[in-house]
Amino acid sequence: MKFSVVAISGLLSAALAHPEHLSRREIQRRGAISRRCEPSAANFNRRRMAKRWPGGGNTTYEVQTEAPYFDAIQNDTCVLTPILTEGPYVWPRSQTLRQDMSEGQPGVPLWMDIGVIDVNTCEPLPNVLLNFWHCNATGSYSSFTGLSPNTDFIELLDQLGIDVDDFEIGVTDLHTDNTTFLRGMWPTDAEGVMEMKTTFPGFYTGRSIHIHVQAYTEWTLHGNGTVSSGNIRSTGQLFFGETLSTQLMALEPYASHTQINRTTNAVDSIFSGASEGSYNPIMSVVPADGEDITNGVIGFITIGVDPTADGVDNSM
Ligand SMILES: *[C@@H]1O[C@H](CO)[C@@H](O)[C@H](O)[C@H]1NC(C)=O
Ligand SMILES: *[C@@H]1O[C@H](CO)[C@@H](O)[C@H](O)[C@H]1NC(C)=O
Ligand SMILES: *[C@@H]1O[C@H](CO)[C@@H](O)[C@H](O)[C@H]1NC(C)=O
Ligand SMILES: *[C@@H]1O[C@H](CO)[C@@H](O)[C@H](O)[C@H]1NC(C)=O
Ligand SMILES: *[C@@H]1O[C@H](CO)[C@@H](O)[C@H](O)[C@H]1NC(C)=O
Ligand SMILES: *[C@@H]1O[C@H](CO)[C@@H](O)[C@H](O)[C@H]1NC(C)=O
Repeated sequence: MKFSVVAISGLLSAALAHPEHLSRREIQRRGAISRRCEPSAANFNRRRMAKRWPGGGNTTYEVQTEAPYFDAIQNDTCVLTPILTEGPYVWPRSQTLRQDMSEGQPGVPLWMDIGVIDVNTCEPLPNVLLNFWHCNATGSYSSFTGLSPNTDFIELLDQLGIDVDDFEIGVTDLHTDNTTFLRGMWPTDAEGVMEMKTTFPGFYTGRSIHIHVQAYTEWTLHGNGTVSSGNIRSTGQLFFGETLSTQLMALEPYASHTQINRTTNAVDSIFSGASEGSYNPIMSVVPADGEDITNGVIGFITIGVDPTADGVDNSM
């Protein structure tokens, strides 16, 4: 599949509002699915919070009053979209099966507690492999550490002598090294839940803070530790509320990233493309110690996937 570089660099929001492969109607359809599963997603999130969060999480009301870090309790299922958003830093070769992908990267610890539901039934979906990758506190992606996070992507291509029209996500090889930090994958358990520890991401030019995620419903773990996966059921990005991001970006080492200004969700073209469909890709976040988000955060979100949809074949 060939992607326009405009769509991935987010320079032209018009192109994103009308992506080649996902019509506005399709975005709205996904939004409708998300709303249909909203009560299940809300319950699912709440059950996991109640279990995990030292502060309680027994009811929506308690969580909201006791944890001022929520922008809102996220009831909405995040239905991932199978296109355009995997971005230029997808690198299957560096994805590793593990539950802690931080690799000592400095920053605020983040535990992602993710539920997956089947959007046809709104029920939890076990054994779905979730694959994550994101940049570090100062905007660099592993395997691409030679590329400046402060340089616009089209300019980067230009510097590398690559014609914009020749660039294809997942095909054009831009990797500069074999580092694997902040990349990892792990399956959901029998309850449809998985946890991944990482370091809260920073930002790079032109994009708001986000974590890439792909969901695979068919996958095999080989004896040599490699994974082969079948169809990607969903590709998407998870975001954070601006209040939280502002607080965390004021801390070191995030605060030392002064070469560029941070792009906020409000002006991020991929975020607005997602929220336009009225499903919500923002993680609900609580302080891991029940008190202070700067010591670490737990992020909750429920992702909806459609196991019956046609997936994109992308063996790893
Ligand atoms: C979330 O969903 C629950 C259950 O469906 C509902 O009672 C509650 O009002 C919703 N909260 C918000 C903020 O939408
Ligand atoms: C939930 O909160 C209510 C009211 O505060 C309390 O009566 C109940 O025991 C709590 N349930 C659990 C499972 O903690
Ligand atoms: C992020 O990764 C880059 C490339 O490896 C490195 O130079 C930078 O120091 C890292 N950021 C932090 C905060 O460690
Ligand atoms: C990455 O590792 C592969 C396999 O060991 C090796 O062939 C390749 O040269 C390495 N690439 C870089 C950029 O270091
Ligand atoms: C691991 O095992 C799989 C399945 O047998 C095989 O296809 C793959 O090439 C192996 N990978 C490595 C790096 O040995
Ligand atoms: C960031 O934004 C401020 C306010 O608009 C501006 O003064 C500053 O030059 C910007 N910094 C960078 C690095 O672009």
